Amino acid sequence: MCGIVGYTGEKQAVSILLESLEKLEYRGYDSAGIAVLGETEGTEVVKSKGRLSALKQKINGSEQIKGSCGIGHTRWATHGIPSEENAHPHFSNDKNVIAVHNGIIENYSELKEKLKKEGYTFYSQTDTEVAVKLIDYYLKKYGQGPVDALSRMMLRVSGSYAMAIMLRDYPGEIFAVRKDSPMIIGMSGNETYLASDVPAILNYTDCVYYVDNCEIAHLKKGSVEFYNIDREIIGKKPTKINWECESTDKKGYQHFMLKEIHEQPKAVRDTLNSVIRDGKISFEGLGISESDIRKTESICIVGCGSAYHAGVAIQYIIEDLCAVPVRVELASEFRYRKPVLPENTLVIVISQSGETADSLAALRLASSLGYRTHAIVNVYGSTIAREADSVFYTSAGPEIAVATTKAYLTQLIAGYLTALGFASVKGKISESKLEELIMELQSIPDKIVSILSDKERIQWFASKYSNASDVFFIGRGTDYAISMEGSLKMKEISYIHSEAYAAGELKHGTISLVEKGTLVVSVLTQPELFDKMISNMSEVKSRGGYVMGLTGKGNYEIEDTADFTVYIPQTDPHFAAALAAVPLQLMGYYISVAKGIDVDKPRNLAKSVTVE
Ligand code: AGP
Repeated sequence: MCGIVGYTGEKQAVSILLESLEKLEYRGYDSAGIAVLGETEGTEVVKSKGRLSALKQKINGSEQIKGSCGIGHTRWATHGIPSEENAHPHFSNDKNVIAVHNGIIENYSELKEKLKKEGYTFYSQTDTEVAVKLIDYYLKKYGQGPVDALSRMMLRVSGSYAMAIMLRDYPGEIFAVRKDSPMIIGMSGNETYLASDVPAILNYTDCVYYVDNCEIAHLKKGSVEFYNIDREIIGKKPTKINWECESTDKKGYQHFMLKEIHEQPKAVRDTLNSVIRDGKISFEGLGISESDIRKTESICIVGCGSAYHAGVAIQYIIEDLCAVPVRVELASEFRYRKPVLPENTLVIVISQSGETADSLAALRLASSLGYRTHAIVNVYGSTIAREADSVFYTSAGPEIAVATTKAYLTQLIAGYLTALGFASVKGKISESKLEELIMELQSIPDKIVSILSDKERIQWFASKYSNASDVFFIGRGTDYAISMEGSLKMKEISYIHSEAYAAGELKHGTISLVEKGTLVVSVLTQPELFDKMISNMSEVKSRGGYVMGLTGKGNYEIEDTADFTVYIPQTDPHFAAALAAVPLQLMGYYISVAKGIDVDKPRNLAKSVTVE
């Protein structure tokens, strides 16, 4: 996934482009570039391999490049290695067309061959350069102007794109096209902005237009026109973004990830308050009615990465409280299956960004098969949110760190609220029990605060394991799901190999990997499984493993077995996972910091995977 930005207005473009790109670096950071349509000397293109800081050094202050219209890009390589040649912007050889792109042109090879026959040559390995030269080809061949050429390009390519294009003959203007990759257009006075995501332009405006699939935008200073693929002008209403600018600054924390871990109490409280009214759960605003809920006879939860892990944890809760069968699928698997689901299955797609390609494809497959779809999404107006039949917006606010924390935790909370709301509508839970569980949920934010106040102990323990080569996480029931998330945090930000196992599975092979000193993190928040877990911990210890226990305050007998224990406040077992996740997030974070890794931008990853 990459980040694209654009600006046209009265101010110098360079500093605005660079500031906007900084807010999008979490989307990809192996190379970057900008292009500015100069007042006199045509278009200046500057690009560099590596982080945005390398580009800034190359530009060396914005006085060098004059111009009030430009585009920019920060890249997560898909076609072509990270290099200056493959960095965006890409351009036609006569610089008639210059563009930046987020997405994948799947049929770029055939198009490249076609263009070569028309005399085009290529300097990079990218699919984007092919798209740029295809636009140039249509401009020259048909001479019907930019909207016509862009429409022809959209009809000819297959794949996904959010592209911002500047044309030599249209100074001060930017054209844009979008399919499946996110794009917003911001307006403020005589200034017009374009970006992949809200954080890039939140410092300039909170008035945005969402570009829909197969639409064309024509940006001028302080105005924008939209066209459909048939080149007809279409009307569009602006949306007001209610995120605060500060959400996209570190506010004194060393990393966004640590800030976002500390924002979890507020994120959980806001998510709870988004559907709890006077002690009752109301789904009215979500677009799913009580009759839809009554009709639901089974649930299929779909997601990727941490969103999938949230689904696995939620599965246990919904089944226990609603007596409705729940299956959980990896979106990248579900989308290629021929799923056989009961007729009244509700397909729930969980996605922080709302743009993950596999999850979007899974949603579209479920819809095409006639299943009702519901989304749990954090980014307002994202594609999955707009295409699902109903959506529960988590209120985590912008999440910048690549490793999710607050968005994941609010996915759990949304799942708990869904379980309670469904159980209530289906008459599976008494009013008094419902009130009791809602009250317990409302105590979670303060319990997270108390965990965070103990973080120094976790930091001390984590620093002892920064050189570990393998770490195992084990649990049973929802603790197994939390172990998956703890393991992913460990892998993705500390680069330490880690596996999560259902504790009962250890003896079926994995325990052969445990040797002297191997760290095994055991999660024990489920009372009825506590003793079984203690037995598993003993099995590990008898093979020389080092066992860390994670359990509720008061379960002090664990210290007879565990070498090190982290306690979380007691809560209802249904919700304990939301508390157990926090120490595991901190553990991954502190090990990563101890290893000197760039926690917010770990290698090879990007915040939202909008390509397959
Ligand atoms: C989480 O730490 C990872 N960065 C990743 O697994 C993420 O959860 C996954 O890519 C799904 O993203 P989404 O929630 O935006 O769909």
